[in-house]
Amino acid sequence: MDAHLITKIIHMTAVALSLLVFVFRAATLFVGVKGQQPNPVARVPLIATQHLSFSVVIVTGVILLFMKDFQVQPWFYAKIILFVVLLSSLHKAFKKDQDILLVQRRAGLIIGAVAFAAIISLVMIKPVFA
Ligand code: HEM
Repeated sequence: MDAHLITKIIHMTAVALSLLVFVFRAATLFVGVKGQQPNPVARVPLIATQHLSFSVVIVTGVILLFMKDFQVQPWFYAKIILFVVLLSSLHKAFKKDQDILLVQRRAGLIIGAVAFAAIISLVMIKPVFA
């Protein structure tokens, strides 16, 4: 197996892990909530796994960019913008701030879910804008 394929497999495994953690963390906004705040059980391991998986996605993504000499398709830019949307909406949804209401957190989560779904659609469809 060549280095490019191995890096891609690590990239996609980290994506799968981040999708799994996304689902579990999303559940903390619906199950066992404490007033207006998310379920605190397993908060730290969920944050740790989320940080780890997104970090691996970014690091392997940048390595892949170098391996491809930055020769990317136009949809790749949309993927990066959506990835920034995903990170910032998750940040809003789970920020440690007693003043953020559950309904606001869930709104952030929905934006994150739409961004995640759009990224996955992009990498599967690989649209040609020519
Ligand atoms: C949740 C976010 C992401 C998802 C779901 C995702 C998913 C994927 C998938 C499935 C592939 C393989 C596509 C294929 O070859 O058919 C891929 C490739 C790639 N990803 Fe990501 N990725 C994400 C984030 C990122 C980020 C943040 C970067 C850059 C920093 C990145 C850079 C790349 C590059 C450069 C490739 C191309 C590999 C190649 O064609 O040789 N990805 N990604």
